[in-house]
Amino acid sequence: MKILVINGPNLNLLGVREPSIYGRETYFDLVDKIKAHADKAGVDTEVLQSNHEGDLVDFIHRAYYTKVQGIVINPAAYTHTSVALLDAVKAVGIPTVEVHISDVSKREDFRQVSYIRQACVATISGKGTDGYLEAMDLLLKEYIK
Ligand code: DQA
Repeated sequence: MKILVINGPNLNLLGVREPSIYGRETYFDLVDKIKAHADKAGVDTEVLQSNHEGDLVDFIHRAYYTKVQGIVINPAAYTHTSVALLDAVKAVGIPTVEVHISDVSKREDFRQVSYIRQACVATISGKGTDGYLEAMDLLLKEYIK
């Protein structure tokens, strides 16, 4: 059983970037938290991050070739712009949960659009980094046999 966690642009600066919105946990804290949760659940996980849209598309394709059974993705700003990420998730057909640390529904108008959402089985937003764990639990409970 394997879940791939993908993080988009600027999430490598967690803890530094706008802490009033994204909190003080660093990206490394987030990776540790996800790995500890995966260990407890007995699931294999890989956590990847890139600031480049094409890399994120490649990560999704790699998930297909390496037989990943579920994807958790925080596409960050590419949520609001990227048809390529939407098409990649549709192409691989792997159950995917969209995660946002902040509550995007309560932020600027441009954050109300999510292209990737229509290819995702669920969206978890505004729960801080615990949203990643909730997304993993949802995949394990409902989508990974
Ligand atoms: C984000 C929300 C996005 O609007 C923003 O561009 C991000 C992070 C979040 O996790 O709350 O970079 O995806």
